[in-house]
Amino acid sequence: MTNKTLSVSAINNGTVIDHIPSGYALRIIHLFRFLHDKNKITVGLNLPSKRLGLKDLIKIENRMLTDLEASEIAIFAPEATINIVNDFEVIKKIETKLPTNIANIFHCLNTKCITHKEQTESVFYVKEQGKQVKLICHYCEKSFERDQIKRSARY
Ligand code: CTP
Ligand code: ZN
Repeated sequence: MTNKTLSVSAINNGTVIDHIPSGYALRIIHLFRFLHDKNKITVGLNLPSKRLGLKDLIKIENRMLTDLEASEIAIFAPEATINIVNDFEVIKKIETKLPTNIANIFHCLNTKCITHKEQTESVFYVKEQGKQVKLICHYCEKSFERDQIKRSARY
């Protein structure tokens, strides 16, 4: 790390999700329920970034993201870098890669979808179309933009 002053303090132990497109950090915190475990979280919004112009950043103390969670975050922040920090050192960088599917986080926006009637798990296929990421419901095959979908209260 350079000795320039950090906009958001360094953390001792946990995960830093860096290079989030500006505007997505709060949504990611909400969608992935990062507030639920009462971990200390610091957030930087609209920070200058050479790569992205402006970026958001999330630092979660004492929480290690799994490779699966990292891939789910890639749906919203394809250029994010996920850094695992231990004893103030970055010990692992997870390159975000889109998952082929995502289960049990979002509910289908099609009110006629079978997933609303039965307590089935939700499954969406993830498809990249240029800069867009689409989610296609396994059950009703309807396609949704990533910005449309909402967290399900069920999971
Ligand atoms: N970081 C932190 N606390 C630490 C170590 C690192 O909050 N104890 C943060 C840094 O502020 C940075 C991210 O974790 O946002 C990655 O750290 P590092 O790999 O040192 O920075 P860069 O080399 O700039 O990373 P990249 O190449 O991903 O831009
Ligand atoms: Zn559906």
